Amino acid sequence: MKIFADTANIDEIKRINDLGLLDGVTTNPTIIAREGKDWETVEKEICAIVDGPVSAEVTADDTDGMVTQARELSKWADNIVVKIPMTEAGLKAVNILSKEGIKTNVTLVFSAAQGLLAAKAGATYVSPFLGRLDDIGASGLELVEKLRQIFDIYGYQTEIIAASIRHCQHVEQVALAGCDIATIPGHLIPKLWEHPLTDKGLATFKKDWAEFEQLQKK
Ligand code: E4P
Repeated sequence: MKIFADTANIDEIKRINDLGLLDGVTTNPTIIAREGKDWETVEKEICAIVDGPVSAEVTADDTDGMVTQARELSKWADNIVVKIPMTEAGLKAVNILSKEGIKTNVTLVFSAAQGLLAAKAGATYVSPFLGRLDDIGASGLELVEKLRQIFDIYGYQTEIIAASIRHCQHVEQVALAGCDIATIPGHLIPKLWEHPLTDKGLATFKKDWAEFEQLQKK
């Protein structure tokens, strides 16, 4: 499963990228606003660091506005993917953009029907939001499982990005569900490799080794 960083924070992106584990980045208006920098500058900086798709989201509401903005965004870098919201206007825009060869990521997907329509419209990626569904008592994981089944039955090439990831269990669950990608908040990615028993075990090994070395010197 591919790992994307769901952040526009350059330090977080560099840290994961330096590990050789970063397959892409996703941003949205909230994530960009959090950094407080110029949007175009930040996206271009991310695109230069990451050797993989970087999602930048349109802010227009109507099809014409989305298409015009998407064409502009796609010129920012070769690896830009345009994020389009899951609306009627958005589906129309995805249809137009996919015919122009502009890659799209349909965002704010909360039902399997929405995901199916996005795939039919020619979306490169669909982003089901796990955490936000869990927040209202629904199951984000169940949505990923349904999308996986539907895309496999009909042979859609659209890749599923598990978004709105809140904890490590989400990552393990979507991996088991056969999800193509998990986009994970930058602060959460280190939690995937950290474990208290690893730290405890390492401390014990160090202590035992130091004692053994002392004994050898006697
Ligand atoms: C990514 O594509 C989404 O915009 C992001 O994962 C949403 O996460 P949130 O629900 O934590 O805001």
